[in-house]
Parts: sequence; structure tokens; C-alpha cells
Amino acid sequence: MSQEKLAELLDGISELPTLPTVYLKLNRLLQSSQSNANQISRIIESDQAISSKVLRLVNSSFFGFSRKITQINQAVVLLGFNAIRSAVLSISVLESFQSASSSNFDRRLFWEHSIGVGTIARHLAKELRLGMEEDAFSCGILHDIGKLVLDQVLPEKFKKIIETVENRQCTILEAERLVLETDHCEIGEYLLEHWSLPHMLVESVALHHSPSILRSNPQMVSLVHLADILARKLQIGSGGDPYIHEINLFAMEELDIEPMDLEELTETIGEKIKESADLLALVH
Ligand SMILES: [Fe+2]
Ligand SMILES: [Fe+2]
Repeated sequence: MSQEKLAELLDGISELPTLPTVYLKLNRLLQSSQSNANQISRIIESDQAISSKVLRLVNSSFFGFSRKITQINQAVVLLGFNAIRSAVLSISVLESFQSASSSNFDRRLFWEHSIGVGTIARHLAKELRLGMEEDAFSCGILHDIGKLVLDQVLPEKFKKIIETVENRQCTILEAERLVLETDHCEIGEYLLEHWSLPHMLVESVALHHSPSILRSNPQMVSLVHLADILARKLQIGSGGDPYIHEINLFAMEELDIEPMDLEELTETIGEKIKESADLLALVH
């Protein structure tokens, strides 16, 4: 669908939540060459909801620090600037979409799926020694954000999409295209561009169901694609339908994974995910 048509469809985009200013300020500060840990901490601390969630996140078993972190400043120093920015971004978006579902969509299962994909993407990045673990986490958490936009801006249409999934026993992606002639990938991309978020993030949202379309971050896109499918295989939450997409071969090559290794990887990740269940507290 063209940008104009999308804009028309999402006429209510002005009703869309804006990103908390704390992320925007943080981003601006980190782009300047003179940022230091104290300034960063002060910005995060200016938003109480976000700072308490940052502490909850860094104290979760997900990060595995042995001692309890009670100050934002400690978190900034321990995690590093990039990781903290990515944590604040994920939390900011979670904060922006905290309202209840306006259609018949189960947001609790949705968040479980999204956090699951973020966690899996982070583990995969680590296991495959790709680096960019914190980016993988935020790309994973946000990959299906388009569904929340639909739920919020077009609740009636989204209701119809969910019904179509049930009636036709098709994936939510297929149902979206059937009902709207667009999908959560395009819509998520539109929102993240509207928010001027980093390309890597925009691409993983836009291409997680079509990783072989090449732009500038094929590795991250492939990682999120695979994490999404593994989350479905491991039955972590629900992305809106119970079906498991096929893994794109391009993604396997891009990540240099042999089919034989995949089973082992899935098993290890299944174990690790159980340890990260406390992350769900971030959305409640
Ligand atoms: Fe998706
Ligand atoms: Fe998904």
C-alpha cells in the first residue's frame, strides 16, 4: 500500500500515542559527543514510571546481575549508554500502549509474545555471537507493534481481522491483507517512521515476515524473523493466531545456522525463556 493510502487509512494517527519525551531527550543527548552517565541518569529519573521500569528490567534475571541495582546511575554504568537507550526505548513504547484493547484482541498474550520475541532475539544474538544484543531485544519487542496501532486506531476493522483468523483459519497477516489490503508490517513501519526511530528498528518491523527483501540490516531482520517463529514454536503468548510460519532460508543463511543446529538452539532458548518470565511484569 502506498504511503498516501496508509496515511488516509490511519487518519486517526493523531490519536496515536506519542513517545514519552524521556526517550527523545535521551536520544538527543546521546547524539551529542559530550554525554555522561550523570546527565543520562537525570533524564531517565525525570520520568518516574520509566525509571522504575528500567530498574525492574535490569534487576530481572534477563540481565543476570548478581547484586541488586537500586540507582539509575548504577544501571547506566553497568549496561553502557547504548544498552540503556535501547532499554528506555522498549519501555517507552510499552508505556505508550498501556491502554486496554479496544477490540477483541488479547493484549496480555500479545505482550507475552512480544517480550518472548525480544528475549529470544537477544539470546540468539548472544549465542550466534552477533553482538547488538540490546538492539535485538528492542527490535524483537517492537516487531508486531503494527497490530497495536490497528487495535487502537481501527478497532472495528481489527475486530473483523481477528474474526477472519477464526473463520478462515488463516494467519493474522493473511487476514489483515484480506480485510485492509495492508498488514501490521507496513503499519508498524509507518508509525516508527513517524516517530523517527532508528532504521534498524523500522526495518525489523517492516520485514520480519519477508526477511529476504534486502535493505540495510538483513541480519537483524533475519534474527527477528527467526525469533518470532521460535516464540510461536515454543508457544510463548500469542501474536494473534496459532500458526507457525516457515523459516525463510535466506534468514538461516544470513545467520549462518544449519537446520541441525536449530533444534538444539530452540531447546536451549526454551529453557532460558522460562528464566525471563519476570520480564512480563514490565507491562502490568
Ligand atoms: Fe508479525
Ligand atoms: Fe510476531
